[in-house]
This record gives sequence, structure tokens and C-alpha cells, in this order.
Amino acid sequence: MGKERLDKILASQNIASRREAGLLIRRGAVLVNGAPVAKADFKVDPELDEITVNGRILNAKKYVYYMMNKPAGVLSAARDSRAKTVVDLIPPGMQRRGLFPAGRLDKDTEGLLLITDDGAFAHRMLAPKSHVFKRYEAVLESPVSEGDAERFEKGLELGDMTCLPAQLRVLQEGPNPLVLVRIREGKFHQVKRMFLAVGNRVQRLKRVQIGALCLDEALAPGEVRELSPKEAELVFEPDGNLYEIH
Ligand code: URA
Repeated sequence: MGKERLDKILASQNIASRREAGLLIRRGAVLVNGAPVAKADFKVDPELDEITVNGRILNAKKYVYYMMNKPAGVLSAARDSRAKTVVDLIPPGMQRRGLFPAGRLDKDTEGLLLITDDGAFAHRMLAPKSHVFKRYEAVLESPVSEGDAERFEKGLELGDMTCLPAQLRVLQEGPNPLVLVRIREGKFHQVKRMFLAVGNRVQRLKRVQIGALCLDEALAPGEVRELSPKEAELVFEPDGNLYEIH
């Protein structure tokens, strides 16, 4: 975004009108990187400089990108009059107008969710031509059958759609195996429907990666952390080799 006048930034963040912002600045209520600034036309880079108004840090960035470890039981939506949503889980200090989840997870699905106010970013991430791969860990009701991975790879037939090639790898064998699934679409209930198509059932589903961006395992379910725009761009990077990581 580059540098902009301080009074203009305050006005654009609805802190004050341009004229009131000038008064606040002259009164010494506004600090830039900890130092008072006397002039309303002082140039500031909102992405790099810390601005405080009456002691409160102003998040004047144009857009924010949050990573959430979505817990099960919460709706992937901006706001809902009846149910608790992922946006409700964002702490007050990180709330902004216009936040929404970029891509949805089912209510009972956990894991990596991006929440932003940058519509163009979300649009680009979700556009089929961007080829953004997503990885999910799933606990299944039954062992994986021979040939399942091949059927995923060939493109499963789901009745109303044929899936693009997807990858399936068993991480932990057992009566309820833990598997890794890699898909690049994100149709409604897609992973669950893919397993139903091969006679199995998903018991638990967690998204662990979007492009090259991995879920930060230090985030407890329901926790959020801000990503730098550079980190957020990782979703557009190749996701790596399925057989080399995890
Ligand atoms: N596939 C599903 O079935 N559910 C999700 O939440 C995401 C992918």
C-alpha cells in the first residue's frame, strides 16, 4: 500500500473525520512507532508502522489474513443469528468489519480455515484455475480397501459430478485408519462423499494444509493467529509431494 497521510489513515479507519484526526494528532493522542507526531500530513506506512490512538493500537492494514484452527461444532460463516460462527470466535482485538471465511468447512470438520476481509484473495484462492490443493486428515469407519487409492486417482464418480484426480494415503493402519486425502476441488461434503462412494465413511475430518500453507499445530482448536500477507500467499504455492511430508 505504501505511505499515506496519517490523518487520511485515521479517517479511513473511521477513527475520526479528517478534521478531527488533525486535532487528535496535534493534541499528541496519536503515536507512530511509540513517538508522538505533530503534523496531520506525516506520512506513514500502515503495513509497517505501528500507530496508536489514545494508547490503543490501530490495525490500519488494508486487509487482514487470519489462520484459525476451526473446532468442530462451529459454523463456517460470517455471522448467523442462531448459531455460533467462526467469526464469533475471533478475539475482540482482532475483529474487523467484513471478515468472512475464505472457503467453508462442514460444521463438524476441524482444522485449517482462513478468515479474511480481502474478497479478491478469497476469490483467487477458490477459483478452479488457481489449482489450490487442500489436504485433509480423516479417521475412517473401516479399513481402506485395495484399489481405493487408485479409484481416487482416476477420478471418483459421485452421481452428480466426476471428481478430479485425488490422492489417498494411509497414515496409520487399523480398524479405524487415519488417512491423508489431497483434493483440489471443494464441493459440498466432498471428502465425505468420496469415501461413501468407495463404501467407507468419514468419522472425523480435519483440514491440515491449503497449498503450501500448513495448519500451525501450536494453535489450539478455536485459536486464531494473523498471517503476514506473504504467509497468506503460500496458499498459491505448490503443496509438495504427498509421499515426502507428514
Ligand atoms: N470435505 C468434506 O466432506 N467436508 C469438509 O468440511 C471439507 C471437505
